[in-house]
Amino acid sequence: MHDLPPLARRMEGIRPFYVMELLARAQELEAAGRSIVHMEVGEPDFPTPEPVVQAGHRALEEGRTHYLPALGLPALRERIAGFYRERYGVALDPARVVVTPGSSGALQLAMSVLIDPGAKVLMADPGYPCNRHFVHLVGGEAVNVPVGPETGYQLTAALVEQAWRDDTRAVMVATPSNPTGTLLSRGQLAAIQAVVRSRGGILIVDEIYQGLVYGDGQGTALALGDDLVVINSFSKYFGMTGWRLGWMVVPEPWVEAIGRLAQNIFLSAPTVAQYAALAAFEPYNLAVLEQRRQAFQARRDFLLPALTGLGFRIGGVPAGAFYLYADCSAFTDDSFGFCRELLEQEGVATTPGRDFGFNRPERHVRFAYTTDIPMLEEGVARLERFLGHGHR
Ligand SMILES: Cc1ncc(COP(=O)(O)O)c(C=O)c1O
Repeated sequence: MHDLPPLARRMEGIRPFYVMELLARAQELEAAGRSIVHMEVGEPDFPTPEPVVQAGHRALEEGRTHYLPALGLPALRERIAGFYRERYGVALDPARVVVTPGSSGALQLAMSVLIDPGAKVLMADPGYPCNRHFVHLVGGEAVNVPVGPETGYQLTAALVEQAWRDDTRAVMVATPSNPTGTLLSRGQLAAIQAVVRSRGGILIVDEIYQGLVYGDGQGTALALGDDLVVINSFSKYFGMTGWRLGWMVVPEPWVEAIGRLAQNIFLSAPTVAQYAALAAFEPYNLAVLEQRRQAFQARRDFLLPALTGLGFRIGGVPAGAFYLYADCSAFTDDSFGFCRELLEQEGVATTPGRDFGFNRPERHVRFAYTTDIPMLEEGVARLERFLGHGHR
């Protein structure tokens, strides 16, 4: 092969998911006959519910295989707006709903229309790693604000106030959060929003784990006004990761620019997925999703005390998503090595803290409860054995 040109310099700022290395090793061990408990996987173990699958089949049979409008299938945009009204009591103009290829597509569009080179975006560390990269790709600077159990691993109005600079444009929060599963209350969000407004910036709220909340705290940031961006997805609550479908709700003045950019980058989100997603809001489908939510809650209720009983410290109140972010400093100051050994010795796969930022990652491990309770029990038994063998 002839000498290829070097990769663009921006690629130096894009880090891999370290868990992929562990996942590859877990798969290798599995292929060799070892039993592996998967607590690293960031997607529901449940398949897409039947009504959505059937709607997808129908869409294919009816020849729904062409492009759709860049902003999304009008009926789906209306359905999404209707869902906010029915479930959260928020009136929303469907014209502000933009359907995207996963919420990843929404995040890319939002950063692209907002961020000039050098502009800053504040976000919690630990946090979802791709957010940093979306900012970096458009030449902006992600400012990782360290957060811990004292603030439920979330940004606060005071932290935002402290970190704000003249060239800050936006604050990103996620509720429930990945990797910690913690929520922001309406009051906390409103306080952050007030600071962001007073500084002339914009608040971006990632609600992709909305619906997966255990106890109180269900809601949407859209109730705070129409001058913020809300990101959402069919991936997690709706169990449709592989369909690659998400959406965002944007301030009305941004719709035209987002549509123009979506035309250029994506043309449209996947057509079959959009027709299938219409069925996602049917009462029968929502009933299936409610059963799954309860199953996740039962898993959380098992795993949280089991891990703290072993000596992991889990701060904040992990009341959503399907993650527990555990401080493992009682056992190690190298969580990556810890995860690797745990996998090799006991066949338990977890995600090391370094996938989520720079704030004491070596002291943290993320456990995902995306597997059933018997498997979680097995995982905990293996962990106990592992810790009994010199990791205390
Ligand atoms: C917080 C958060 N935001 C966004 C995404 C992107 O998901 P998708 O593109 O499947 O909607 C994920 C996926 O894990 C996530 O955890």
